[in-house]
Amino acid sequence: MATPSSPPKILLTGATGYEGGSVLHRLFKHPSLASILSPSNPVTLPVRPGGGDRISKLTETYGPRVNPIAITSLDDVETVKALAAEHDMVINAGTGFHPASAEALVRGLAARKAATGQPAVWMIHTSGCSNISDKPITGAARPDVEHDDADSAAVFAFEAAENEREWYAQRAAELVVLRLGEELGVSAISIQAPCIFGTGEGLFQQAGLMIPVTMASVLQQGYGVTVGDGTGDIDYVHIADLVDLYVLCVLNIVEHGGSSLETGRHGIIFPTAGRTLTRDIALRCLDVAFAAGHLPKEGGPQTKEIRTLSLEESAAMTAGNLYIAETGLAGHRKTKGTVARTRLGWEPVYLEDAWMQDFETEMKAALEGKRGSTFEACIAAEGHSKEICQYF
Ligand SMILES: NC(=O)c1ccc[n+]([C@@H]2O[C@H](COP(=O)([O-])OP(=O)(O)OC[C@H]3O[C@@H](n4cnc5c(N)ncnc54)[C@H](OP(=O)(O)O)[C@@H]3O)[C@@H](O)[C@H]2O)c1
Repeated sequence: MATPSSPPKILLTGATGYEGGSVLHRLFKHPSLASILSPSNPVTLPVRPGGGDRISKLTETYGPRVNPIAITSLDDVETVKALAAEHDMVINAGTGFHPASAEALVRGLAARKAATGQPAVWMIHTSGCSNISDKPITGAARPDVEHDDADSAAVFAFEAAENEREWYAQRAAELVVLRLGEELGVSAISIQAPCIFGTGEGLFQQAGLMIPVTMASVLQQGYGVTVGDGTGDIDYVHIADLVDLYVLCVLNIVEHGGSSLETGRHGIIFPTAGRTLTRDIALRCLDVAFAAGHLPKEGGPQTKEIRTLSLEESAAMTAGNLYIAETGLAGHRKTKGTVARTRLGWEPVYLEDAWMQDFETEMKAALEGKRGSTFEACIAAEGHSKEICQYF
């Protein structure tokens, strides 16, 4: 795509988040990228300044290698599009629940391509496996289906059909990126993550979602919960392995023009390192809390107990969002990650042992008051996005 003498201009969203902050950190740590991500070619970081001085912290930490730009919100799609139009590569590592800004980023990249006449511009998008989940309580149950990214086009077609039936912001964002990328000649891939675990390396949000939220609930209530028949499942990946995949993608693009990457509807990548029953996440939280003497609580269950909730009851954990409650707690989301391993040589190193160990890390972090992850924050971005999305 480019050489150190003409390095690609890169924009990264989500620098204040768990994934985006970790990706940024790892990009700067990779020796092969040092000449590309240099003070003369800083990474543009659109961020909401927030209450504290997050922009100063980014600059103090990474120096002139970053160019943080204050934005009011991703809802300001004209600004987002104009920013993308000044870049050759967008790493959309912030919220996956904002189709309007995802669309704006692709449109901006297309404008860049048209203005410069360069052969390729790239979008690395971030999404999540609830896109392919079944809805075993209110819809179809598909407990045995495993989606394989080796046939990404089939996954794309499945998601497109699902979204016709029921619009879901995170799925809409992925579809718009891949479909519009094809139409406008923007090379787009989507890293569709399962449950991410492990402590992140970014400057701000360092906690994942599923284990921290479940741990908080278990420690507070003294019991775990499940929804449905208890067979709901999800794959997992450690944040460090996940961000390594982003780095591999960036490297492949800058060093080999993205020759190992398929794009558009063929560009969905599942980064998976292991699989668990969702119910077992709650059970493992109980295991570590009982073993460390933090449970049982006075007045609470004296043995390890998993209560089966109705969908409506469980939605208290997911900001009242019934869709996320059903896919997140009862759904089956089996993804087979073939592409990253076979095409990019990605080999996750944090496997089942690390997964099990993370529950203790998260319990300690929760007890030290270092965790505040909520589903609410995760899905907040979908707010007005459907209305301002031009494409769907
Ligand atoms: N975490 C997981 O376990 C997980 C698993 C699978 C898939 N994913 C996918 O990955 C995405 C990112 O996850 P994450 O854990 O990194 O989330 P996160 O820590 O909550 O970070 C989200 C980032 O997006 C930014 N953002 C959100 N809404 C915005 C808005 N309206 N305007 C401007 N910026 C906005 C946030 O900025 P502020 O700091 O200003 O809020 C933050 O930088 C998820 O949305 C999901 O699609 C996550």
